Amino acid sequence: MLWRGLCPRSRLSLGLALCVSLLCWLYVYPVYRIPDEKEIVEEILQQARWKRNQTAIAAFRRLLEQCCDAQRLFAVTKLNSPLGKNLRFDGEFLYSLAVNNEIFSMFPQDTPFQLPLKKCSVVGNGGILKESNCGSRIDKADFVMRCNLPPLSNEYTKDAGYRTHLVTANPSIIEKRFQNLLWSRKSFVESMKVYGHSYIYMPAFSMKTGTDPSFRTYYTLSDFSANQTILFANPDFLRNVEKFWKGKGIHAKRLSTGLFLVSVALGLCEDVTLYGFWPFSMDLQGRIISHHYYDNVMPFSGYHAMPEEFLQLWLLHKSGILKMQIGKCDENTKQ
Ligand SMILES: *[C@@H]1O[C@H](CO)[C@@H](O)[C@H](O)[C@H]1NC(C)=O
Ligand SMILES: *[C@@H]1O[C@H](CO)[C@@H](O)[C@H](O)[C@H]1NC(C)=O
Repeated sequence: MLWRGLCPRSRLSLGLALCVSLLCWLYVYPVYRIPDEKEIVEEILQQARWKRNQTAIAAFRRLLEQCCDAQRLFAVTKLNSPLGKNLRFDGEFLYSLAVNNEIFSMFPQDTPFQLPLKKCSVVGNGGILKESNCGSRIDKADFVMRCNLPPLSNEYTKDAGYRTHLVTANPSIIEKRFQNLLWSRKSFVESMKVYGHSYIYMPAFSMKTGTDPSFRTYYTLSDFSANQTILFANPDFLRNVEKFWKGKGIHAKRLSTGLFLVSVALGLCEDVTLYGFWPFSMDLQGRIISHHYYDNVMPFSGYHAMPEEFLQLWLLHKSGILKMQIGKCDENTKQ
């Protein structure tokens, strides 16, 4: 009879539909519940003193090397991106740019550091840094990495330090804060002086709109013989790092710059300490804090998954792979 033939098929397609919607639901809403701010703070306060675990560091470094190989690939170089290579943009669907002579001439020969780097500070811009007294400890590292051209004037030195060896710059900052370098380029060059001889790490090959401002930045610094050097992020590296963290359950449209930078540090440095990575609105004592150490401007919501990212970093802290500094840096306790 007809219904006999129909029924299993409709059951099958109903099952399939349920299955698909369950998978979609699981993708959008992770299976585990993300603990709330209070629970996270409680857990952190209960943690014993941090100890580094060399076995865990070696194992994690091997994983990162297999997926992403930061030492060879974190920046675009003449060695990893020869003339004619198609740079496949990681933030666009099917868009790539072939390396021509002009573009090639902007790349360094190879990763320009003496590797591995020893002790690295990675500085996020969280409001938790304010009144932290962490500046001198941040600066004591051999290599200091910072996010998104943060302000480093005297008033912040005590908490955020001033030394910088690598700082990320989002092309959108160049457009918004410096009129895409179409007007005064001198004010831009002046404001880069706080970063000393550092490398400025720009995702020139992630979004189509980012390439132009990144190249302008390169030529501006080069024309003014500035002390800073541009490094373009390698889109293959960014894509692999994103895959790596998504495989660990991060459900964001895009990873934050901070997590990319931590991944770079874990690949390049023997010893990594994070400062200012705290995406919550209160500190460990329950006091309300500002969003950044220098202002209280909120980012777009829904783009990054900061608490999820934080939990992944906290797992690394608990396993002794990196150290996350959250509270104040007490000058008396040597760490
Ligand atoms: C260090 O990490 C390894 C591998 O993750 C683990 O098996 C070991 O128990 C850890 N050692 C300590 C002292 O925590
Ligand atoms: C570059 O750094 C040197 C000191 O290392 C300084 O004397 C010089 O003024 C700097 N140049 C620019 C353009 O900032």
